[in-house]
Amino acid sequence: MKRTALHTPVLLTPFLEMLAPLPDEPFLFLDGTFGRGGHTRAILDFKKNWRVMGLDCDEEAIVYGREQFADEVRAGRLDLRRANFSDFAAELAGQKIIGGLLDLGVSSPQLDEGRRGFSFYHNGPLDMRMDQSAELTAATIVNTWTEQDLNDVFHELGEVRSPFRVSKRICEVRREKAFETTSDLAKLIEGADGWRQKGYHPATNYFMALRIAVNSELKRIEKVLPDFSRALVKGGRLFVITFHSLEDRIVKVAFRALADAGAAALINKKVVQATWEEKKSNPRARSAKMRVLEGVL
Ligand SMILES: C[S@@+](CC[C@H](N)C(=O)[O-])C[C@H]1O[C@@H](n2cnc3c(N)ncnc32)[C@H](O)[C@@H]1O
Repeated sequence: MKRTALHTPVLLTPFLEMLAPLPDEPFLFLDGTFGRGGHTRAILDFKKNWRVMGLDCDEEAIVYGREQFADEVRAGRLDLRRANFSDFAAELAGQKIIGGLLDLGVSSPQLDEGRRGFSFYHNGPLDMRMDQSAELTAATIVNTWTEQDLNDVFHELGEVRSPFRVSKRICEVRREKAFETTSDLAKLIEGADGWRQKGYHPATNYFMALRIAVNSELKRIEKVLPDFSRALVKGGRLFVITFHSLEDRIVKVAFRALADAGAAALINKKVVQATWEEKKSNPRARSAKMRVLEGVL
């Protein structure tokens, strides 16, 4: 297996512990962010009578899944579809689910492949689309959005306190030559902002902001949670794992509103986070937060 195919699923132990009370009967589970299938593999192994529908908007995730899970697909235990989880209702076509998972953000292979354009450590085109058929790329944002819009994206989605120097420099530089690669942009940010914290690249939050904007990540989560909870059977559970405070806030507010309206119940009032050991062995787990909702209707 290529190194870039690897992705270590986060919070797997608490996820399985909270899945344990659900009955192992012929139910359907929806993994809305299949990725490299780490969580799906564990679900299929743990609940032998469940079927899983796995969605991912990334063509490469689905190709990988069809190869690596060929037996499960053939046996009818796994149905893999290239789709955005915001279209999950159409994919389910009225079927109820015993549970659902959204493990948000990017997978390690997406980050590690320079050609996908997510990372300043691996040079590549300024792309950042999870769904390769989408139109908007990071290059379009960087090369065509106004200075004010760039400030707003960096400030609101990247939580960069003063992005003004960077946005201004981008607009000056692109008058001469459009930005094409991740390292073009990372170098400009490094030059404008400098290193403030050892080990924390100054481009980190700018890149995260662009990725969230390119993939409309926050809007999609907000839209999908109430519908997702309605698809649960009574006692079914919806798991959402976030890696960003803005995402977590959206999930927290939406879950609370559903619980207050009597449409669902909160399973954990406090977010589930990785243990020290997991954080040490998998740096992606450091910022992971899991919230769980139970269907009551
Ligand atoms: C963090 S990874 C999931 C990893 C997976 N749980 C595993 O253990 O392998 C997130 C995946 O979700 C996909 N994704 C993100 N947002 C999506 C969306 N709105 N619709 C469908 N897939 C999405 C990404 O393409 C990526 O493959």
